[in-house]
Amino acid sequence: MSSSIIGASVTRVDGPLKVTGAARYAVDHPLENMAYGFPVVSTVGSARIAGIDTAEAARMPGVLAILHHGNADPLFRPAGHFESYSRAGEVRPPFEDDQVYYYGQFVAIIVANTLEQAQAAAARVQVRYDAKPPVVDLAAAPAPEGPPRIHYARGGAAQAFDSAPVKIDQTYTLSTETHNPMEMHATIAAWDGDHLTLYETTQGVVNHHHVVSEMLGVPLDRISVISPFCGSGFGGKLFPWPQSLLAAMAAKRVQRPVKVQITRGLMFTTVGHRPLTQQRMRLGATQDGKLLSIQHDVLQPTSLVDTYVEGCTGVSTMLYSCQNVEATQQLVPMNIGTPTPMRGPGIVPGLFPLESAMDELAIQLNLDPLDLRLKNYADQDESYQPARAWSSKRLRECYQTGANKWGWSQRTPQVRSMRRNGEIVGWGMASATWHAGRGSATVRVRLNADGTARASCATQDIGTGTYTIFAQVVAEKTGIPIDRIHVVLGDSSLPDGPTSGGSTATATVLPAIAQATTGVIDRVIAVAQQTPGSPFHASNNAPGGDPPKLIMTAGRIHVADQPPASGVPFEQILSSARLAALDDEARTAPDPAEAHKFSAHSFGAQFIEVAWDPGIARLRVSRGLTVIDAGRIINQKAGRNQILGAVVMGIGMGIFEETLYDPRNAKPLNNNFADYIVATNADIPDLDCIFVEYPDLHVNEYGARGIGEIGLAGVAPALTMAVYHATGVRVRKLPVRLEELMAGQRGIA
Ligand code: MOS
Repeated sequence: MSSSIIGASVTRVDGPLKVTGAARYAVDHPLENMAYGFPVVSTVGSARIAGIDTAEAARMPGVLAILHHGNADPLFRPAGHFESYSRAGEVRPPFEDDQVYYYGQFVAIIVANTLEQAQAAAARVQVRYDAKPPVVDLAAAPAPEGPPRIHYARGGAAQAFDSAPVKIDQTYTLSTETHNPMEMHATIAAWDGDHLTLYETTQGVVNHHHVVSEMLGVPLDRISVISPFCGSGFGGKLFPWPQSLLAAMAAKRVQRPVKVQITRGLMFTTVGHRPLTQQRMRLGATQDGKLLSIQHDVLQPTSLVDTYVEGCTGVSTMLYSCQNVEATQQLVPMNIGTPTPMRGPGIVPGLFPLESAMDELAIQLNLDPLDLRLKNYADQDESYQPARAWSSKRLRECYQTGANKWGWSQRTPQVRSMRRNGEIVGWGMASATWHAGRGSATVRVRLNADGTARASCATQDIGTGTYTIFAQVVAEKTGIPIDRIHVVLGDSSLPDGPTSGGSTATATVLPAIAQATTGVIDRVIAVAQQTPGSPFHASNNAPGGDPPKLIMTAGRIHVADQPPASGVPFEQILSSARLAALDDEARTAPDPAEAHKFSAHSFGAQFIEVAWDPGIARLRVSRGLTVIDAGRIINQKAGRNQILGAVVMGIGMGIFEETLYDPRNAKPLNNNFADYIVATNADIPDLDCIFVEYPDLHVNEYGARGIGEIGLAGVAPALTMAVYHATGVRVRKLPVRLEELMAGQRGIA
């Protein structure tokens, strides 16, 4: 089993805990004497707080404390002064001043004996506002001042565009999207003397630990962050948000554990979102479809309390070969909470205008969209000067594999030309990419005398399968069966591990798990050779000869050129040496020289079919295929799950998701699951995914790049391309709206 478990379809090791309800999510930790915090949030988008009257609320049953900017101990801004990177969702600590910067901002928190008491009292707090009209609309916002946040240029894009024989110049808009993982943000804070424990749901235990330490002004060694399970995050749980700090503050005040659970409505205001982007895309090309110029200019809102840049332009600088590229991105501060990464930040929204404009160009040139992409294939990463070699790129194979499997050659390009069962069918395809990052990690692996192994790290499993990956690597190296490998994650007291973000966690932890496992095997071998009575003890060696080389296979230590059965189970070696366990720890990091030699990206091709019934204005996504080149896939089952899940999100992005703000008070109007539509089972057709597997050994010894985000990348542009093919309507603002399609059908028989 030892080599085959890497790359196999391994069922999640934490699956039974989840399906039996035994897995403890943030609010599930049972603490004695729990109190409950419930926030009071601003009901206006821009104001000064003129007064907070808490008298009536304070008299309500069960109320223990009411904290607000007038009576709370001040918190600190994150300084990033610890040795590792730290980042908060919003640098402004809650209750810092009397200003309201967005609707839904925390202005007070009630702490009470029960949740219901806290909630009831929160409704009795009277907040008086000196309100101003909020800025929530990009068109009405003041124009951005100063130089752009991003400015990239190579060659002379403006001149090349002016003289290009064929031109596309269009503006594309992606609406604000709100992360809605099943588990909402939540914290239980408990002080034991001067030690704080935070039970969290986070994508970054280590980052969370550092940020709360900085913002509370409490040293790292007096804070524990515990997050064994996370009901997903999609980026919304990368960085700590105010509820964690408020829970800590409230628990200190009432000297009891305090639980603060964000409501679904507050998911839309206080814990980030993917910002709206308005993106002008200009392409210049030759008559035969060679790109001469790409210009990509992005306008994006940010909040008034922090700066978040959704880096949309990067993908336009590297995906296609083109000598002349210029890209800018500018920010507009508005009265909404701070945006934050959402699955595939930057690249996913940046690909929509790029791939849409490529489709518009293909139509103008009467070229197959796939051929246009092949004509402009980037054999190197031209965004660097000089251009850098790819660590590994099999995008051409993705296109071809996808086209064959899909039957792309049967596509008739005329709009409304393909029909099935009385519906019009439209086909679209787009490229996908995501950069392959890798960071540093420390992992500890222990072999126990009871025949089990334990691997631990302060990274976390956000639902993607990280527990299983750890077990797979230990199983591969030792041959110990997976059900005897215990993986411990999600605890800041463990060795430092990476944030689960940017599709980097797997690529980051693999080498550290491998090295720590190899290290502990070496220690067991050394014990085997040194323990009197052991069959491998030096006294058994032939006189004058070298000691035989020992290895570990199937959980047994044996001579390298003899079968495992000839050896001894590792637990027997530990027991006979009177050792309960041996362990080893390894810290690994990417080689910076290697990282500068190559550009490491994953790639893919995505195909979407829509079925359009013009008679009743019904649009459905009816088929989807994704072909991904992400190096070696460590777990086929978890990998496929990531890609298909991302495609589902792409369908949401394409036809459903849009957070709408009330211009009067900046309230998100559709801050609930009735009005903010996400794709459900009925919206999901047959989806398939194929991995073309070429291990990328420049990234790590397993050749694995990340797969968390790339599955989302090309879905929306492939979908609007399919919609155009089916209806003749080019949708340049997501999500697709039926009324826009209906308007486009007028006069069509
Ligand atoms: Mo991802 S947006 O880095 O969780």
